[in-house]
Amino acid sequence: MISRKQLHDLAIFGGTPAFDERLHVGRPHVGDRDRLLARINDLIDRCWLTNNGPYVQEFERTVAGMVGVKHCIAMCNGTVALEILIRATVVTGEVIVPSFTFIATAHALQWQEITPVFCDVNPWTHTIDPRSVVAMMTPRTTGIIGVHLWGRGCDVEALTGIAQEHNLPLLFDAAHAFGCSHNGRMIGSFGTAEVFSFHATKFFNTFEGGAVVTNDDALAAKIRLMKNFGFAGYDNVAYIGTNGKMSEICAAMGLTGLESLDESIAINYRNYKEYQHELADVPGVHLLAYDERERCNYQYVVVEIDETVTGISRDKVMDILWSENVLARRYFYPGCHRMEPYRSYFPHAGLLLPETERLAARVLVLPTGTAVSSSEIRTICAIMRLATVRGGEITERLAHGSGQLVGAS
Ligand SMILES: Cc1ncc(COP(=O)(O)O)c(C=O)c1O
Repeated sequence: MISRKQLHDLAIFGGTPAFDERLHVGRPHVGDRDRLLARINDLIDRCWLTNNGPYVQEFERTVAGMVGVKHCIAMCNGTVALEILIRATVVTGEVIVPSFTFIATAHALQWQEITPVFCDVNPWTHTIDPRSVVAMMTPRTTGIIGVHLWGRGCDVEALTGIAQEHNLPLLFDAAHAFGCSHNGRMIGSFGTAEVFSFHATKFFNTFEGGAVVTNDDALAAKIRLMKNFGFAGYDNVAYIGTNGKMSEICAAMGLTGLESLDESIAINYRNYKEYQHELADVPGVHLLAYDERERCNYQYVVVEIDETVTGISRDKVMDILWSENVLARRYFYPGCHRMEPYRSYFPHAGLLLPETERLAARVLVLPTGTAVSSSEIRTICAIMRLATVRGGEITERLAHGSGQLVGAS
């Protein structure tokens, strides 16, 4: 292993990169290849490739059972699942969402000309702050979307109270939270309905995919129509709809992945503990902790870099990691409110979102999953330790032009 003890050991100052191959955040987990190929052969033999085939039906039953809800409606991706759910429940007005989330949460509203009103997040949990939700309410508010960021449940209890008091639908973007619980109950079973993403970069994937899960019979029936052009039977269109269907090959991937879910959680957990151990005493580097009493997929290894302690910014730490072939990522930088079209609509939104602004400048997500080994994690942490403990010196050297930035930031 290449040691990382002196500044000249760092690749950014001319050392050899620690890794020959790039390490990514969110490398897809593929389950048992033979089982997947057997299912693909089956679906080809059946010649039933999409349109509510047997694998999609089995996948929906299995997910609903795991989550403990009456209905799972599988879809082509999480964004379309969000759009359809929003259309089925809200239709117009303003919906309160955190800005510290993936842009799809906001776009799913704006796409249908519903205004996302951005609220702030709790600095400790990074999830939607109920006090900020109340502060952002107007007579035009028609709903609330909480995001279970990093797979950690929002303050569901406070949000439920607010939604009930104002008679608003409460939806959850649970894209990160498949396989996770909140207060001992599986995420997916809260609010009016929740949405999962099964995108390839998620902890569990169906190549592309998503689902709405709910206990509401009437809502589930409506969403089933809407994701299939509104067809209620041959030649009978009963509702406005779109094409949100999951295909059989995606469901085959999902059913195969579900069989090794526990294994991938175990690997993510091992990685998380390794990072926790290695970074525990690094000043100014704070690893987001998961509540180990809950079920969790441990898919996101999230650190906050406190530049006032380290003397080096998150972005420069990221540049250093990239030059070592560690493709750590800033998430959800710079915040939805600083992306178009929202930046133009609400140019001063940042003034009301101090925690979002702070986190967007500090958060770094590190590689994990089946593609990363314990010894690789130790090397990544050694680089981070050197980069942050000697952060002031490095910042100065980089400011004077020494070092080869690789364009991560
Ligand atoms: C928080 C969040 N919401 C929504 C989505 C959209 O899901 P998809 O990529 O399946 O459309 C994602 C991820 O991609 C996400 O991270």
